[in-house]
Amino acid sequence: MRKPIIAGNWKMNKTVTETIALLKEISSKDLSKNVEKVVIVPFTSAYSAVKELKNTDIKVGCQNMYFEESGAYTGEISPLMLNDLGIDYVIIGHSERREIFKESDSLINKKVLSAIEHSINPILCCGETLEERENNRQEDKVKSQLIEDLKNISKDDIEKVVIAYEPIWAIGTGKTASSDDAEEMCKFIRDLLVELYDSKSASKVRIQYGGSVKPENVSEIMSKDNIDGALVGGASLKADSYASLINF
Ligand code: PGA
Repeated sequence: MRKPIIAGNWKMNKTVTETIALLKEISSKDLSKNVEKVVIVPFTSAYSAVKELKNTDIKVGCQNMYFEESGAYTGEISPLMLNDLGIDYVIIGHSERREIFKESDSLINKKVLSAIEHSINPILCCGETLEERENNRQEDKVKSQLIEDLKNISKDDIEKVVIAYEPIWAIGTGKTASSDDAEEMCKFIRDLLVELYDSKSASKVRIQYGGSVKPENVSEIMSKDNIDGALVGGASLKADSYASLINF
């Protein structure tokens, strides 16, 4: 059985002071024990977040990392730095990183390999643009991303990867993919994992949907066979709304 995983991606929001206040509010809520809960905070907030959530079952993630352990990489954050903080998850290849910061699939692949090597679970994002969806190219796009991003990830390690299917046209736009469209793509991803690995390994990988998930649509999305969680931006930034997502 795959344990559902709901992660709030805070993106570039919340100062340290605001982080502590929001996490105090979140951790005072009644949150389901049957869901793996993650908050993915800005780097500057990570230390305080881990401290604040120490006695809870809410895990902390970061939104990016570089693949090298140390060195002359101005502005980057290394896996060893995340290890030292006690970070459990790291988003790799979010569409905002791919589009705005021009991250390539080969760079993303190095980051996924490095995260696994350092025992940090990658949440690997993939998904098509609106234009690709309109031209019915969503499967080709996601397939080519995942084949490259998962290169050299072994059968033993693939279950450590969470894959987030996030159609770019649904992120932050209020437009959600229909739950059937989301399920169709998540099933496509699972079938691809069967091809790349085998059915036993594929059945262990958790696949999230992301893109305008909110309290009103989370339960329908979570009811689908191949959707094991959600990666949520906007709706994860308020304690009430985060709690409703977790308690879908
Ligand atoms: P959204 O963002 O929920 O605000 O659409 C999702 C994401 O980018 O992970």
